[in-house]
Amino acid sequence: MFVQQAIAILDSGVGGLTVVKEVMRQLPREKIIYFGDTARAPYGPRSTEEVKLFTEQIVDYLIQFNPKMIVIACNTATAAALEDIAAKVPIPVIGVIHPGARAAITATKTGRIGVIGTVGTIKSGAYTAALQQLSPFVQVVSQACPALVPYVEQGLFRTTESENAVAESLNGIKYEPIDTLILGCTHYPFLIEPIGKVMGPGVKLISSADETAREISTILYDKGKLASGDDSPIHQFFCSGDAEMFQRIARDWLGEQLQRAPVVWQISTL
Ligand code: DGL
Repeated sequence: MFVQQAIAILDSGVGGLTVVKEVMRQLPREKIIYFGDTARAPYGPRSTEEVKLFTEQIVDYLIQFNPKMIVIACNTATAAALEDIAAKVPIPVIGVIHPGARAAITATKTGRIGVIGTVGTIKSGAYTAALQQLSPFVQVVSQACPALVPYVEQGLFRTTESENAVAESLNGIKYEPIDTLILGCTHYPFLIEPIGKVMGPGVKLISSADETAREISTILYDKGKLASGDDSPIHQFFCSGDAEMFQRIARDWLGEQLQRAPVVWQISTL
């Protein structure tokens, strides 16, 4: 029997679902195996070594499903572990920082770009490096927003409390003369409405999800590995923590995408 090779996507928790949604939309034939390390989220405040170790553990776990590529749909893990993992694993491995940087460079008119992310991502300087590698003329301002991920992980992303937390977290960067803001954490698209309200219509908000899905599409096309056939794929979603919460958030976020393709939900503690 032919078994369709999957795209393996991982994150510290539910944030990577923002990338999953775009992959399901742009590449509906592709099977996805997702791992959200919800038991150990957030990764943002952890040390680089710890994030690297956790990411390697998840990749080792996912590799047993024989995926055709791995997507580190977590900025913190991309900054900490992408290079090492890509050097070790014999299939394509991509992160979300370069796609996010590319999308921001395309969007900016003034060359003044803001980045918000976890403490780990902002401390790594990975976005500034990626943006300046593409264009040495851009000016980058960054702001860590450690308060936001827990609201998303607890399914509280449409509450007054999360709106207040967004307003407080952006209190510095909203006064910067930027025209583009990178949501440098895959959890933040869950909060795109309050973020947009605070930043105002003059600032374009960039999520890496679109550009990451496009990069997946390009890589699979180049390798002759795009899925074909008319059967809809059966996705597999794993989480390491509260399965009920994970499913609730995933169903809410993925909405109609899930009506087109069935999902098998599983818990795994690695
Ligand atoms: N979603 C992740 C990111 O893009 C990590 C959030 C966290 O676990 O702190 O950085």
